[in-house]
Amino acid sequence: MNRFEKARYLITGILLVCAINSGSAANPVDHLRVYRQQGISETDRDRGRQLWNSVVDGRSCTSCHGRSPGDVGKHAKTGKPIQPMALSVNPERYQDGNKIEKWFLRNCKWTLGRQCSLQEKADLLTWLSSQ
Ligand code: HEC
Repeated sequence: MNRFEKARYLITGILLVCAINSGSAANPVDHLRVYRQQGISETDRDRGRQLWNSVVDGRSCTSCHGRSPGDVGKHAKTGKPIQPMALSVNPERYQDGNKIEKWFLRNCKWTLGRQCSLQEKADLLTWLSSQ
């Protein structure tokens, strides 16, 4: 292999690594950074867990997502299965900020009868993504 060939392999390698990195830009930590930019200075896993398990008028996050975040859930209305929420079991979770916000909005309203605050969402995401 001559000098130029070596250089070509090296550059191809660098470009490949860049491409792979840019493909996985979003992750839960990124979305927590968004909350921090919006003024959240600390998050609490236990607070997230408590809210997740709290019951309001017979409804809870676990009504659809199952007792443990590592379990496959079952939609309370449609009966459809919902893939596990625990990141360790389901690495596809929490990759897209828009998806996270869409479901926080819908599910907090359905479950708690109100929107979740920024702090609550940050706590919930901290807990869920640690599971
Ligand atoms: C009525 C059923 C139901 C309840 C109750 C429910 N969820 Fe969900 N949730 C869903 C469905 C359906 C999805 C979208 C399908 C999927 O992502 O597997 C979802 C997705 C999510 C997501 C997006 C996850 C991701 O991959 O980005 C978050 C976050 C979430 N729910 C949080 C909550 C929280 C917090 C509560 C309680 C306040 C809750 N959910 C209660 C049905 C429910």
